[in-house]
Amino acid sequence: MSGELAINRAAPIDGKGFAAEVRARVAEHVTRLKADYGITPGLAVVLVGEDPASQVYVRNKGIQTREAGMVSFEYRLPAETPQTDLLTLIARLNADASVNGILVQLPLPGHMDAEAVINAIDPAKDVDGFHVSNVGLLATGQNAMVPCTPLGCLMLLRDRLGDLSGLNAVVVGRSNIVGKPMAQLLVRESCTVTIAHSRTKELAAVCRAADILVAAVGRPKMIPGDWVKPGATVIDVGINRIEEGGKTRLVGDVDFDSAAQVAGAITPVPGGVGPMTIACLLANTLTACCRANNLPEPEGLTA
Ligand code: GUN
Repeated sequence: MSGELAINRAAPIDGKGFAAEVRARVAEHVTRLKADYGITPGLAVVLVGEDPASQVYVRNKGIQTREAGMVSFEYRLPAETPQTDLLTLIARLNADASVNGILVQLPLPGHMDAEAVINAIDPAKDVDGFHVSNVGLLATGQNAMVPCTPLGCLMLLRDRLGDLSGLNAVVVGRSNIVGKPMAQLLVRESCTVTIAHSRTKELAAVCRAADILVAAVGRPKMIPGDWVKPGATVIDVGINRIEEGGKTRLVGDVDFDSAAQVAGAITPVPGGVGPMTIACLLANTLTACCRANNLPEPEGLTA
């Protein structure tokens, strides 16, 4: 295709701008909670070890938590911390009424059992939505804490498409953090949902049937434009670092340039789904705080 004649048919989905709106709505609600009830939501983030990417995430979470008017509690533990010490800290945070949300940054060091650690968090404070009780509540359509990245994707989809019922949704990737909860949320929206993965046969044809295509596999530019149905809404959860022309850059799981020629709307990387994750973490902390105090939940900030 000639570069001059190429038109980007897809409307880019401005996740960065939408995340800023979500954070502003959270901050506004927090202001009212303080003024009307004297309540300030608190989020505790626990980082074990010194993984550089995790350190960046944790720092950003702290900054954005404070910007939303909430209290940020940060715990940085050495990589060799015994698991029993981490469980003791979690028990203390579970019992602390000023802490509404608890997030243990993953991955944990190899000597720890991540499932045991996550399941030690009080489900009502599990703002990641990873506790097995929250997974079950989501699967049965009850009041769960919903994992942040799929919640952010759902907010973007609702904003773009309104009613999702009856649409064909394909989720590529079956992780507990994104793929599975995303599929559950889309089922709840009355989509017809397919979970595809590395063993899926005829993956290209499966993707081509999708009105909503969510890519969450962690493989750079794996999904080319000719796998995208014309007019489809494409949500790219991938954040992959690649070397190109001697430089490092971030790309998604979808080949943006070719997919944007075909899709109706598509999230860019960076600036699409990524900023929604922390925004939804703040929304979940606010929701947990409202539930803990028997107050109405914030509108438009839950699943
Ligand atoms: N590490 C990468 N993503 C996440 C996340 O969403 N939650 C936690 N706790 N750790 C992560």
